Amino acid sequence: MGAPIIFSGIQPTGRKHLGNYIGAIRQYVEGQERGAPAIFCIVDLHAISVACEPAELRERLYDTMAILLAAGLDPERCILFRQSDVHEHTELTWLLSAVTAHGDLNRMHQFKEKSAEQRQLVSAALFFYPVLQAADVLAHRATEVPVGEDQRQHIELIREIARRFNERFGETLVEPEHRIPAVGARIMDLQEPERKMSTTGAAEAGTVYVLDGPAAIHKKLGGAVTDSGREVVRAPDKPGVANLIEILAVARGVDPTEVEVEFAAAGYGDFKQAVAEAVVELLAPVRERYAELRPDEAALEATLAAGAEKARTIASRTLAEVRDRMGIGAPR
Ligand code: AMP
Ligand code: TRP
Repeated sequence: MGAPIIFSGIQPTGRKHLGNYIGAIRQYVEGQERGAPAIFCIVDLHAISVACEPAELRERLYDTMAILLAAGLDPERCILFRQSDVHEHTELTWLLSAVTAHGDLNRMHQFKEKSAEQRQLVSAALFFYPVLQAADVLAHRATEVPVGEDQRQHIELIREIARRFNERFGETLVEPEHRIPAVGARIMDLQEPERKMSTTGAAEAGTVYVLDGPAAIHKKLGGAVTDSGREVVRAPDKPGVANLIEILAVARGVDPTEVEVEFAAAGYGDFKQAVAEAVVELLAPVRERYAELRPDEAALEATLAAGAEKARTIASRTLAEVRDRMGIGAPR
């Protein structure tokens, strides 16, 4: 097997949090060293599947771009672009919808959860969201997709869409593998450790943001809900402690069992203090670099434009082939 073609997308909504960083962004940075190429996309077209302010969307897009660069993505070594700049993704979405089962879309957990959260409009875009995601990945013939646990079902559907297309129209699209980390694929809310850390619907105190400073991080981790008992171990009835063990293990780059051994005789207080210190150390360099990069929006735009050009070259090739296979447009 040759080097993987790596692709992932991230939404420019909300504020990026520790779950995004641990589950996804840190994997992107690692993937940049292995991918040939590694391609990362800020998915503004996905973002509009729920209500969002136009001006706010642009601000959040720059925030996300600056976080990705600050975390270590290097446009010299990867392709980093804005989804809406590459129209091929949207056209491919429509073409792929012809081989996507309505019933499959109806079964998507994320659609069920998100549609239940909407107070006003449940948009058709929310329903179609996984088809656009499939177009993102398949346009680039990705072999590997780094994501958190919550995207497992979407990646499975992408494989199904590629399979059905190839069956009907001949071998064209590549079935990608997900890459979900063994530890940290589902970081939980610090106040409600039964739900995943997320920007929607959660209390501030339960979510650590990538841009939080040391004081906020210490406050949130110090106040994290722990469980009854006193042992620092991962157990089914200890979701709060298990979550903190995973966070510390990832922040230090060690196995979670090492954390359990080290804190076997410690109380929850000392343990939480250690987690807070490790998270401060993990995020401080990103926050500092972000502060340097974020103000220069013209530079961010220039980097996005260069990335879009590279992405378009790849995506347009796939799109032309898909159109041809389907009998769309003049013959090639
Ligand atoms: P989003 O911000 O929804 O676009 O998510 C970006 C990436 O972060 C996706 O790969 C998600 O799977 C991942 N992610 C989101 N929330 C979490 C979490 N709580 N723990 C781990 N990964 C997450
Ligand atoms: N749906 C993903 C999420 O919410 C974001 C996404 C869009 C994505 N396109 C993608 C992830 C392609 C992986 C590959 O996190």
